[in-house]
Amino acid sequence: MNQPTDKPTAIITGASSGIGEAAARVFARRGYRVALAARRRERLEALADEIRAAGGEALVVPTDVSDAQAVETMVQTTLDAWGRIDVLVNNAGFGRLRWLENLHPLDDIEAQVRVNVLGVMWAARAVLPHMIEQRRGHIVNVSSVAGWLAAPGYTIYSATKFAVRGFTEALRREVSVFGVHVSGFYPGPVATEFGEHIGSKRKAKMPDWMVLTSEQTAEMIYRMVTRPRRSLTVPWWFLPILWFNSHFPALSDWVQTRFYTRRLRLR
Ligand SMILES: NC(=O)c1ccc[n+]([C@@H]2O[C@H](COP(=O)([O-])OP(=O)(O)OC[C@H]3O[C@@H](n4cnc5c(N)ncnc54)[C@H](OP(=O)(O)O)[C@@H]3O)[C@@H](O)[C@H]2O)c1
Repeated sequence: MNQPTDKPTAIITGASSGIGEAAARVFARRGYRVALAARRRERLEALADEIRAAGGEALVVPTDVSDAQAVETMVQTTLDAWGRIDVLVNNAGFGRLRWLENLHPLDDIEAQVRVNVLGVMWAARAVLPHMIEQRRGHIVNVSSVAGWLAAPGYTIYSATKFAVRGFTEALRREVSVFGVHVSGFYPGPVATEFGEHIGSKRKAKMPDWMVLTSEQTAEMIYRMVTRPRRSLTVPWWFLPILWFNSHFPALSDWVQTRFYTRRLRLR
């Protein structure tokens, strides 16, 4: 292993597009060395070139987070290169938003669980021995408002994001004694390539003001690290909706069934 660098180091999964790509730029701009992980190597190379051209440092670590061994290698490669890991942004994920009976058991259901849940758990597990030893570190797990609110069409996606929330809460209570922070990030709609992978033509058309940009969410993730907080749910207007859902679940069932499911499924 190389001698530890004096610069902080962040691993960002899902760095080839969307929130992860924007987060890599933000961390690099603020002086972090960034390890870029995702499957599409050419996208990561292009981002790394851009970061280096701007004076930053980036390492391309092509990784399929649904493969436990690949996740171990991602962490070890970063340690071999830079000798330290200060931040893990556990961001890689996708959703297949079709009715449950139309989801393929392996390609849609198992694949979402492997990437969104197991990938997050494996990556956190792999960086922890190092963070515990250095008595410092921050893991940011990217869940979703779907980790609080289960909507029709989101069965498996929501299940994975609820799982990330449970994992995040328990892990924080395990490792805070070592100075390791664990935060949950719960964004609503963000303008990224997410919608291209949902496996459905049915896309919700939302006014622009309702949709966050990946740059905004990347700044929020960065701020969660500089000013550690347990959890952040954005945008703000989701908070009353989540409050209503948790306090009036039966009414929430009725509203979603009456105004959403019935219209789509019984026409
Ligand atoms: N966009 C939204 O509205 C929204 C809202 C709430 C939460 N989120 C969450 O935010 C996170 C980022 O999504 P995004 O919106 O930025 O979507 P995106 O633009 O589609 O980015 C998803 C990223 O995940 C990576 N990824 C997917 N499968 C992977 C695998 N098996 N191994 C490694 N990387 C993988 C993709 O890279 P490769 O394809 O190159 O592997 C890509 O970099 C996800 O966890 C998503 O659930 C998104």
